[in-house]
Amino acid sequence: MSVNADWKPRIVAFCCNWCSYAGADLAGSSRLAYPADVKIIREPCSCRVNPMFILKAFERGADGVILCGCHPGDCHYSTGNYYTRRRMALLFSMLDYIGVERGRTRVEWVSAAEGAKFSRVMNDFVAQIRELGENVKVGDLRCKE
Ligand code: FES
Repeated sequence: MSVNADWKPRIVAFCCNWCSYAGADLAGSSRLAYPADVKIIREPCSCRVNPMFILKAFERGADGVILCGCHPGDCHYSTGNYYTRRRMALLFSMLDYIGVERGRTRVEWVSAAEGAKFSRVMNDFVAQIRELGENVKVGDLRCKE
């Protein structure tokens, strides 16, 4: 796919407060770089992210959405990320069905001690979205001419 040199992907990262957001914080304080294209939305737990939030993000122009939470078994609310895992499996098959490329969404488990992993995951995800190009499958048709 041809990529416009000026194009910058819009990436939404939902991060749970207790692990992934702290991991992002650690990446920042350790001066581990990740692209500014990533906009972090802090959530109390990964299971707080309703799949509709992800669809809405795409509708509002996101090119990629990543959901980060505590490692399975480490959720601050015991089982929240198990619900997340199940929900996202369903959402991914629905996105497949409507034709959104599989690489545009991702779930990652990042702990508070994994600043380096957070940085690596974000760099990798942004590179993947750059390769996929702009999201044209899901968008708000009211905003287009
Ligand atoms: Fe992090 Fe539940 S608190 S996934």
